[in-house]
Amino acid sequence: MKITVAGLGYIGLPTAAMLAESGHDVVGYDINKKLIANLASGRVELAEHGVRDLAQRALESGRLHPSPMPFPSDAFIICVPTPTIEHRPDLRAVEAAFASIAPLVQDGNLIMLESTVPPGTTLAVAERTFRALGRDLDAIHLAHCPERVLPGKIVDELLWNDRIIGGRRPIDAEMARAVYATFARGDIHLTDLVTAETVKIVENAYRDVNIAFANELATLAESLGIDVWKTIQLANCHPRVDILAPGPGVGGNCIPVDAQFLADANPFASELIRAARRVNERMPNLVTNIVRELAPADARKIVLLGAAYKADVEDTRATPARAIESLLQGFGYDVAVYDPLVTEYPGNLVSDLDAALHDADVLVLVTDHAAIRQLDPQYVAARVRRRFLVDARNAAVIEDWNAAGFVVHVLGRGRFQSAATEALAAC
Ligand SMILES: NC(=O)c1ccc[n+]([C@@H]2O[C@H](COP(=O)([O-])OP(=O)(O)OC[C@H]3O[C@@H](n4cnc5c(N)ncnc54)[C@H](O)[C@@H]3O)[C@@H](O)[C@H]2O)c1
Repeated sequence: MKITVAGLGYIGLPTAAMLAESGHDVVGYDINKKLIANLASGRVELAEHGVRDLAQRALESGRLHPSPMPFPSDAFIICVPTPTIEHRPDLRAVEAAFASIAPLVQDGNLIMLESTVPPGTTLAVAERTFRALGRDLDAIHLAHCPERVLPGKIVDELLWNDRIIGGRRPIDAEMARAVYATFARGDIHLTDLVTAETVKIVENAYRDVNIAFANELATLAESLGIDVWKTIQLANCHPRVDILAPGPGVGGNCIPVDAQFLADANPFASELIRAARRVNERMPNLVTNIVRELAPADARKIVLLGAAYKADVEDTRATPARAIESLLQGFGYDVAVYDPLVTEYPGNLVSDLDAALHDADVLVLVTDHAAIRQLDPQYVAARVRRRFLVDARNAAVIEDWNAAGFVVHVLGRGRFQSAATEALAAC
């Protein structure tokens, strides 16, 4: 088949490459001209090795053609971003992608939207777009095929995850199944458009609520003087309990955004989801309060270890590091953010470890990258001014940091009977 994939980001590029590797003739269309130029010259700038290798193979095979414009195709897959702006879904990229491919779509072609969207979006955008062109939607096939991969394991999960495919009509879902079945080895479940849209955001809202529960337990543990990590580990020994890990906040472009999409679907019927959002959004405040409590009165410089929103990815979208950085700056601290994987970050990223550590009074472990877990405490101790560490991920080997002279406070391990939780009430 000839397939155009619109949007070559974290999701679109590996999907396009996977389709090319399965023998399809794929146009990879993106509005980012620099990205297209890089891909056209064989350069893939993604940190995830598996995706890089897959994309490079697809480009070398000659079956993946990077392009700044879409081309007529049998099928179109849309993988453009769907962020929120001030807690409202921003669907402009989806609208723009539909608008750019619609004039090329012929009767009998298939359009598949992979982007995560609020319920009802796929049909509403398609109807608007094709009506404006005087076209009959019944003449084309339309499906929503949400992507559910985990960054860091994208290639594996593209192959093995089960897929949910919603069709405008059963025939549309069947046609989309035929495309994905050329590479997907997990089960493919067919349903209608709105159910598929809802399933995707329900999955991430479920995780957001579960993490909020863990974060609330961490906040309680700070004041109760218990160890939340041990508590969760023991509670999870129960066969029907599975609590996720607490942390400095929930970032990335999926979990917080999708939970918001679901809450927006009916604000009066989503009290729990909105409360979970609030709990997760104030975790940077708790971390900041702990830092202020631990820091000596004359402390000036705080170093955040990790800018990415989660371990071993270079993605900083909605990262809690940025919120913690601004809060600490608001209290007058000089803040440096070190991350060995990240090159794009809106705050004060210092790529050189020694420069970041120089004169530091408190370190905050924000992202548990392998490279950060493996930092040698003795090496770090020799470069900082004061030896204090706040570990928001329970990732540091405390004995090693203590042996290097550090006072360590792990989030949710209330050794100090922290006053930080009381201060949080004022946030
Ligand atoms: N990243 C993830 O882990 C993940 C997982 C599951 C689902 N999703 C969903 O998949 C979708 C894509 O996410 P992503 O992380 O790949 O985004 P991304 O920002 O990494 O990539 C999106 C790409 O689309 C391009 N683009 C924007 N508007 C366009 C247009 N009108 N036409 C063509 N290209 C356009 C951008 O230039 C960019 O390269 C989102 O809806 C996201 O919620 C992402």
